[in-house]
Amino acid sequence: MTAELILGKEVSQEIYGELEARIAALKEKGVTPGLGVVLVGEDPASQTYVRMKGKKCEELGMRSETVILPESTTQSELLAKVDELNNNPGIHGFLIQLPLPDHIDEQAVINAIDPSKDVDCFHPSNVGRMLIGDPDFMPATPAGVQQMLIRSGIETEGKHVVVVGRSNIVGKPMAAMMMQKAKGADSTVTVVHSRTKDIASYTREADILIVAIGKAGFITEDMVKKGAVVMDVGTNHIPDSSKKSGTRLVGDVDFEKVKEKASAITPVPGGVGPMTICMLMVNTVHAAEMADKKRCNQ
Ligand code: GUN
Repeated sequence: MTAELILGKEVSQEIYGELEARIAALKEKGVTPGLGVVLVGEDPASQTYVRMKGKKCEELGMRSETVILPESTTQSELLAKVDELNNNPGIHGFLIQLPLPDHIDEQAVINAIDPSKDVDCFHPSNVGRMLIGDPDFMPATPAGVQQMLIRSGIETEGKHVVVVGRSNIVGKPMAAMMMQKAKGADSTVTVVHSRTKDIASYTREADILIVAIGKAGFITEDMVKKGAVVMDVGTNHIPDSSKKSGTRLVGDVDFEKVKEKASAITPVPGGVGPMTICMLMVNTVHAAEMADKKRCNQ
């Protein structure tokens, strides 16, 4: 049996179709949703992500403002920029592309973002609201994985979800989301990570295996239960001399082997990848809608 492929490109198109109507409704009221993106330094992967975010805004008829700051930017200079964006009424949501240079305290910068503009959902107040089931925003990548499950008709209620990885960006929020009393959740969740003993003994029990550990090909066929749903959040660039760039993008799952055992799987590239920007756009439109509602109520 070869697994059904769950493709982020297809799922995101469906969501963008729904967003277009919401953007048009805002524009009729004279509001163009605006996203700010701040990049510090010259990390090539971050530069690519930032470019893609700006391009997607343009495609959707949204406003985007990209702020590029040198690697030498100080923490107080960056905090001043955050303050400026917090107070810019044309920017409904913004994010600071991570990672930041080592001399900047990442959490201090995140803490300075106005939670009502925190479209990454990284501010502790938004993380807490998501945890208690009263969110304004959902973190983009885990929300993207959840939308792929919902829109592919994959039942999650009562299923055993095993999350591999415990990062603040993916693993932790993913686990918190899947345990909520909510649509596309209501699961029994196990989290495994780099210090877990015998990871395979847990992953083999997963009905839905969500992998975000950042190691190419980490999940092998013997670690997956027959018929499991496998969501691969990994983005690893491995050497490949046949490519012009000299590298190739692979996930955390041994796709070729695991697809013969799983019932559904996301490839890399083309799987979860396109969902992150899509859910960021959803959050930005939501931020604009919230700001508009607040303005109308004043
Ligand atoms: N770096 C890697 N993923 C992300 C993300 O989702 N948001 C931001 N701001 N930086 C990232």
